[in-house]
Amino acid sequence: MTPIFVAIFLLGLSSQMATAANFTLVYEWPDKWECECPSEANSTKVLSIESSNPGYIDPQFMAVYGSRIFIILEKHVGIPVSLVSLPTSSASPAPPKLTPFPSWDMHGNDGDCDKIESSRGLEVDSVGKLWVLDNGSSKCNYSKIWSIDLANNDQTKLIHRFPFYGHLNDLVLDETPNGTFAYITRWFEQNIVVFSLERNQSWTVDTPGIMFFSIAISPMNQEPRQLYLGGWNSKGLYSISVAALRNGTLTANPKLIGNWTTSKSYRMLMDKHGTLFSAFWYKNYVKSWNTSQPFLERRFIKVAGLYSSTPFTIASNQNGTLWMTAFDNKKKPRYRLLKASATAKSSEDLPERSCVSSPPTQKSSTPAEVQEKSILKEKLHHHQLFNIILICSNVFTVILFWHILRKKRKNSLSPNTNEALQMTFSRNNPAEYKEFRNDVI
Ligand SMILES: *[C@@H]1O[C@H](CO)[C@@H](O)[C@H](O)[C@H]1NC(C)=O
Ligand SMILES: *[C@@H]1O[C@H](CO)[C@@H](O)[C@H](O)[C@H]1NC(C)=O
Ligand SMILES: *[C@@H]1O[C@H](CO)[C@@H](O)[C@H](O)[C@H]1NC(C)=O
Ligand SMILES: *[C@@H]1O[C@H](CO)[C@@H](O)[C@H](O)[C@H]1NC(C)=O
Ligand SMILES: *[C@@H]1O[C@H](CO)[C@@H](O)[C@H](O)[C@H]1NC(C)=O
Ligand SMILES: *[C@@H]1O[C@H](CO)[C@@H](O)[C@H](O)[C@H]1NC(C)=O
Ligand SMILES: *[C@@H]1O[C@H](CO)[C@@H](O)[C@H](O)[C@H]1NC(C)=O
Ligand SMILES: *[C@@H]1O[C@H](CO)[C@@H](O)[C@H](O)[C@H]1NC(C)=O
Ligand SMILES: *[C@@H]1O[C@H](CO)[C@@H](O)[C@H](O)[C@H]1NC(C)=O
Ligand SMILES: *[C@@H]1O[C@H](CO)[C@@H](O)[C@H](O)[C@H]1NC(C)=O
Repeated sequence: MTPIFVAIFLLGLSSQMATAANFTLVYEWPDKWECECPSEANSTKVLSIESSNPGYIDPQFMAVYGSRIFIILEKHVGIPVSLVSLPTSSASPAPPKLTPFPSWDMHGNDGDCDKIESSRGLEVDSVGKLWVLDNGSSKCNYSKIWSIDLANNDQTKLIHRFPFYGHLNDLVLDETPNGTFAYITRWFEQNIVVFSLERNQSWTVDTPGIMFFSIAISPMNQEPRQLYLGGWNSKGLYSISVAALRNGTLTANPKLIGNWTTSKSYRMLMDKHGTLFSAFWYKNYVKSWNTSQPFLERRFIKVAGLYSSTPFTIASNQNGTLWMTAFDNKKKPRYRLLKASATAKSSEDLPERSCVSSPPTQKSSTPAEVQEKSILKEKLHHHQLFNIILICSNVFTVILFWHILRKKRKNSLSPNTNEALQMTFSRNNPAEYKEFRNDVI
């Protein structure tokens, strides 16, 4: 009895989140993301970042540096800026608005070739420069890379124009004594792109038969470095030795590491200890893998009921703090920003379904933190209420479950104890159902 009972109980307790790290809720925007934008009258750009259509603003990528967070928004029609910033903490009880980054004026419409047209993928390098991929537009017919010097008044430079346009997804940086390289994935293309900063050159490296979407790179201090790539048209996770890419090879032979079990990966992140995180299309969880070990997926965080095609963005800052946005396209709270202190202790040490997203009980210091906590307390109150309801419903489920089980026992000691279990779970949480079953079996 006990493992099942405990599993059900824990699920109830964890209610909103099941995590292998202690996440803190930093901000919650119940419904809308609003923009700190200039007044409409003075702009030719469509100005409706505060959309009347809830869930229209769709976070895609994130980076964190110092006290600022940078988020790339999907450039749907009517979204005037695709790159915004937020403070990492705020003294105000209201969650912060989005500020166009580096400025409102640096963002253009399609055809404003010397402005940011549609940003896509970003990364901070070791000297505090934010690299931003720009998909560009058909009017300019090229994609480009921007560099924004975060430690130097956000000085913004267009550092490269690619000889092609479109389909950009994401980039990682490789800083070597011989120069800095960027590796870039393009969806729907059987290649990856390498850019050399010193030579101001980019070239494509063919990957015959394989198309990639998500990308991550092994930690800087772990030579030989490996590139990790998630398939665009498959669940495959591949690696490529970076040495060959630095060398100027024009064809790579990606090695298949394994297949993710449930879905294709749309975003990956490597922490400095070599743990790879991946988020998946339409899945409300993020998985992790310790790359020093044979391929093994572990659930890192799960947010109950979360629904979106791309529910999460993930980033880590210089200190190894992990940041995450959770986006719900269908219901409130629409947007959440979470953080977890460095994942020094691996998620391996913890059971995959370890619950608890306990609020921080640290020494208070800044007013911002105090404020943050009091907001949290309020939210916790709601969550507790929710928990109680959930626990009760779970208890009810357990009772029901016992009835089913007893009946089954009476009928026969059937081969199908598992089926009762499945029903219990699917009632509680359909998304949980399939994977739990896999784990049990
Ligand atoms: C989370 O916090 C609890 C209590 O503070 C601690 O025991 C546990 O080790 C922490 N887990 C992680 C992954 O840091
Ligand atoms: C437009 O901006 C200018 C200068 O920033 C300001 O003087 C003017 O009043 C603005 N016009 C409107 C309609 O807001
Ligand atoms: C865009 O660039 C590609 C590749 O350089 C070229 O083949 C194509 O004709 C260009 N299209 C336009 C509209 O300029
Ligand atoms: C780098 O090359 C691009 C063309 O590929 C050019 O537009 C740009 O000005 C060059 N940048 C520098 C700093 O030379
Ligand atoms: C990038 O360009 C491609 C066209 O090559 C287009 O289909 C896609 O929607 C663009 N993506 C973004 C984010 O602008
Ligand atoms: C730097 O380049 C030199 C010569 O091209 C090569 O021998 C060396 O291995 C390179 N170092 C790195 C870290 O790639
Ligand atoms: C890189 O190039 C150097 C010399 O050009 C060669 O010795 C080395 O084997 C190459 N490394 C890889 C990984 O291709
Ligand atoms: C991964 O999936 C592909 C089919 O999509 C299959 O051919 C391959 O054998 C699988 N590899 C592993 C390691 O599971
Ligand atoms: C990161 O570490 C530095 C130095 O160790 C510290 O001053 C800074 O406050 C830390 N930042 C965060 C966001 O924890
Ligand atoms: C990953 O696995 C290696 C080898 O088993 C282990 O030494 C290391 O501590 C693990 N990393 C983390 C972050 O747990």
